[in-house]
Parts: sequence; C-alpha cells; structure tokens
Amino acid sequence: MSTEEKTKNIMIERATEMLDRAYVPYSKFPVGASILTKEGEIYAGCNIENASYPLTNCAERTAIFKAVSEGKKEFSYLVVTGDTEGPISPCGACRQVMAEFCDPDMPVLLTNKKGVQMETTVSKLLPGAFQSGDMV
Ligand code: THU
Repeated sequence: MSTEEKTKNIMIERATEMLDRAYVPYSKFPVGASILTKEGEIYAGCNIENASYPLTNCAERTAIFKAVSEGKKEFSYLVVTGDTEGPISPCGACRQVMAEFCDPDMPVLLTNKKGVQMETTVSKLLPGAFQSGDMV
C-alpha cells in the first residue's frame, strides 16, 4: 500500500472515530471529518449542535477551524463521513469554508460507514465560490 493510501485510510479512521464524539441530541445525525495539512498532520472534527439550532457547527467546519486555530492554513486532503446510504454531502456553508482555506483542486473524499466512497474536489463542490478576490 502506498503512503498516500495509508494516509487516506488513517484519515477515514479518524473521521469515523469522530462519529462517536458528535454532539447531536437534536438531529441524531452524527458527521465526522478529518483534514490533512500540507505538513502531514491530521485534524479531526464532529458536528456540535445547540438548543438554538442555527448555532450548530458542522463536522467539516469543526475540523477546519481546529486546524486553523492551531496555525495551519495549508491543506491537501479532506474526508467527510456519516451513517448515510450513499457518500455524505457537505452543506453549503461547509463548502464555502472549504473554498476559503483549500485550493480549488484539492481532493475531498465523501464517504460513509459502509465504506462507499466518492472523491471530488473543492471547486466541484462549490463552483464559483465567493472569494477574497471578488471584493476588489
Ligand atoms: N452536518 C454536518 O456536520 N456536515 C454537513 O455537511 C451536513 C450537516 C450536520 C449538521 C447537523 O448537526 C446535522 O448534520 C443535521 O443537519
């Protein structure tokens, strides 16, 4: 197995572990994510809900914000998983946050507990994302 495949498997494991950490008393829909920095570190996150529903933080944003808050802003791979039928689909807010911190062609693996996998990219998930360059 190549180093890349090993890293991908570790990332899937880390994202899957996060399903047990998800705080989802309202939706009962756990989501896990893991992001790889260009230096090779992995940050993982889960969704964290709130009685005030809109305050919920999705798993992808938890993982990305954990990394950014540790000073990491360059990423090379993202994994998202859930207990879904098909590969989980990230919400619009998370797609926008991915577009802020990740290269447009960065691969994103959408998977689920059953092991169904779909690899896509940040720009395929959100074509035409609003970015800093759009404010000039
Ligand atoms: N959720 C995520 O964590 N990521 C997504 O991309 C889709 C939605 C969470 C938010 C909420 O806790 C639950 O799934 C149901 O919407």
